Amino acid sequence: MTYIVKDECIKCKLTDCVEVCPVDCFYEGENMLVIDPDECIDCGVCEPECPIDAIVADTGEEQDKDKWLLLNKKFSAIWPNITKKKEPMIDHEKFKNLKDKYDKHFSEKPGK
Ligand code: SF4
Ligand code: F3S
Repeated sequence: MTYIVKDECIKCKLTDCVEVCPVDCFYEGENMLVIDPDECIDCGVCEPECPIDAIVADTGEEQDKDKWLLLNKKFSAIWPNITKKKEPMIDHEKFKNLKDKYDKHFSEKPGK
């Protein structure tokens, strides 16, 4: 199993999660983070750190979890590693309860 980041993270990128990961396996896109499923040791400490519940176990009941697992796998191989908390995205409050964030706002670009 692994933990994965879902679309709630898009346009929020609060980054509370990255500080607690013992194996530094978060990767940063322009407006979302992902977890490398092969590096994740399933410790679960990041899950409660995300204030908007964007992190879940891939063994959970989440709808579309296979889609998010593939997305985490694909983009963790491309995007840069992130280990330090940074400022959340501008307007993150506005985006935190938005639906269909993936279709409307997902970006394949790497974070900076
Ligand atoms: Fe890192 Fe543990 Fe979260 Fe996996 S479950 S991403 S190892 S903090
Ligand atoms: Fe995203 Fe939550 Fe981490 S919004 S960056 S998964 S703390």
